[in-house]
Amino acid sequence: MQQEEPPLLVLQFSDLTYTVHKKISRWRRCFRKPTAVVASSATAAAMAMPPPPHSRLLLDHVSGEARDGEILAVMGPSGSGKSTLIDALAQRIESLEGRITLNSTHVSNRLLRSISAYVMQDDLLFPMLTVKETLMFSALFRMPRIQSTAKKRARVMHLLDQLGLVQVADTIIGDEARRGVSGGERRRVSIGIDIIHDPLLLFLDEPTSGLDSTSAYMVVRTLQKIAKTGSIVILSIHQPSFRILGLVDRLILLAFGQKVYGGPPAELHTYFHSFGRPVPQHENSTEHALDLIQELHNSQGGVKQLVEFCNFWIATASKRGSARILVGSTDVRGAISASISRGKLVASRPSSAFMFATQLSSPRHHRPKKTNNSHSQESDHDTKLSGADMVCKFANPWWTEIRVLAIRSVMNIKRMPELFLMRLATVLFTAFLLATIFWNLDHSPLGIQERLGFFAFAMSTTFYTCADALPVFLQERYIFMRETGHNTYRMSSYVLANALIYVPFLAVLAMSFVLTVWWAVGLAGGGSGFLFFFLIVWASFWAGNSFVTLLSGVMPNVMLGYTVVVALLAYFLLLSGFFIARERIPKYWLWFHYLSLIKYPYEAVLINEFQVEGPCYESGSQILFGTPLASLSPTLVSEMLSLVSSTSALLNTPYANMSASSCILTGPDVLIAKQITELTKWQCLVITLAFGVLFRFLFYAVLRFSGRNKRE
Ligand SMILES: Nc1ncnc2c1ncn2[C@@H]1O[C@H](COP(=O)(O)OP(=O)(O)OP(=O)(O)O)[C@@H](O)[C@H]1O
Ligand SMILES: [Mg+2]
Repeated sequence: MQQEEPPLLVLQFSDLTYTVHKKISRWRRCFRKPTAVVASSATAAAMAMPPPPHSRLLLDHVSGEARDGEILAVMGPSGSGKSTLIDALAQRIESLEGRITLNSTHVSNRLLRSISAYVMQDDLLFPMLTVKETLMFSALFRMPRIQSTAKKRARVMHLLDQLGLVQVADTIIGDEARRGVSGGERRRVSIGIDIIHDPLLLFLDEPTSGLDSTSAYMVVRTLQKIAKTGSIVILSIHQPSFRILGLVDRLILLAFGQKVYGGPPAELHTYFHSFGRPVPQHENSTEHALDLIQELHNSQGGVKQLVEFCNFWIATASKRGSARILVGSTDVRGAISASISRGKLVASRPSSAFMFATQLSSPRHHRPKKTNNSHSQESDHDTKLSGADMVCKFANPWWTEIRVLAIRSVMNIKRMPELFLMRLATVLFTAFLLATIFWNLDHSPLGIQERLGFFAFAMSTTFYTCADALPVFLQERYIFMRETGHNTYRMSSYVLANALIYVPFLAVLAMSFVLTVWWAVGLAGGGSGFLFFFLIVWASFWAGNSFVTLLSGVMPNVMLGYTVVVALLAYFLLLSGFFIARERIPKYWLWFHYLSLIKYPYEAVLINEFQVEGPCYESGSQILFGTPLASLSPTLVSEMLSLVSSTSALLNTPYANMSASSCILTGPDVLIAKQITELTKWQCLVITLAFGVLFRFLFYAVLRFSGRNKRE
């Protein structure tokens, strides 16, 4: 008789327990038990204590194992803890108790990330990319740089074939608005992008949900093929059909976080027969299992008796001769070497194999550890010490990541040009409106007011039109979280690429705006003034775009995001110096004036306009402008001027010998009157640019601290 080949890799987990604690606030406690509030010192002391935690057990001492070449399916009714168990095995849960080992060796979180893939329940894909492009980008990110593009392309073609996607390779993914590939095909693409680097462990949360039975079968069939290449496949499934059950090698049945069956699906009939509730003829064993769980749940004893029977069944498995002691055929290093010799990892990710072998060769890793948080942190710390690990954490250097991310973003923008064109149209229309309203402004006291109004509106508009950057990251957020959660690329690469691709687009917007208004309004400063005006509008777009991007990282949804953007920009404009001069702002709001994003570009354009020597904004004959005497005849004004200018009190002042034609208000005088004296225009430009850099940095910090991709 031919002996069964021992498994190369075995993932074992035992006593996995996960409890969520919910603290009841003091207020709610008071509200819940009003009668218990007695004026005694004991109650008062109790009130001062922190509220007791209310806990819920989501996983209750769940054990099991999975081996390479096989599919382990986690099944159970809705809310039974399937996703929680998959998350636990993928080490995506913060405070998990229990033990997870690979060939009896503890696997650190970071190591697991590089040798595994986690396919989420939702298909988070870019709708405008084709199937082939989506897989190719995944290959460019996750396969190491030392492999040529031709090899990466070959891997994509192989995967297209393996996933049965050759026919739709050039079809876009699509979304609600644009017709793309079917649901089943989309699910297979989702699986494809996560297995491009040929992971040893593949976790999938309900890969068949929402699919018809044929598509669901196709997906699990594909997963079986992947398992046969030497991977461990662990998936959750709500209610598999008979055909799908035939593809599954081992099954774990959960009910309310407890294991009620563990073993091959073929043994389900014997199991339920022994329990005293045999599967009726012509009924699917999984359907029977789910019905029985529901029935037991509604009975007095609950599912406890089934849990106890399951423990008894597993304990007596050896007596029945059905127990297979699953231990990896060799130590993990040996298993990896064997994988490499089978061509498993060499083709796609030698770095992963190298890291794997390097880390596990360390003696401390041979001790099984609890996978609770503190231990994970400890082992994560250990891995930091390994230089090899640092080299291998990401498949590519950051400049490659930035290049690929930038190419992908530009491709997405090109496929949806309406977004950029819409924004260009908004900017052009605003510029056209301003150009026609403020057409050819003159140099007069009224012209000063109009110029101030024009600049205040123009500069605040550049910021307001940036609000459309808000949904961009909100839409991409979950894709970003999935990708960075798997170390597809560095978060810093994403932030840099995101900033860089916007710069040329913002330059186009700035130039369109400046070209439309510059000559039409009749702005001062000549060629250098034109160039500076372009630079400051460009910098404003950059700062505004960065500001809105930061908010998109903080805000949970678009509506809230727009409300906050509009409100904050209104406050910035209010305190920019246009509505109220700096010295008139109450002292306790002065800090906001200096934080105002609009203050610096607004002052910069005013300096650019008014620091030009030559134009006179108010002559002697206009001295009564804005007063009740403004309608006096010019002759009367001349006589009044000669009378006033000859008074001895005005001797040695600019107003001595003032006539109707003498200039009494130049551009620099306007700047002094508006208290724009603290900074030069170049300093304002630098501050505006620095604001943009600061916001991008803060955006990075927000992503870094919020995107841990773990359940708490
Ligand atoms: N953070 C949490 N706090 C409280 N309860 C939670 C939390 N996370 C999950 N649960 C609860 O734990 C139970 C198991 O959730 P889980 O998502 O694992 O179920 P499931 O078996 O995957 O269900 P479905 O088939 O509907 O996807 C559910 O009742 C859920 O409401
Ligand atoms: Mg689930």
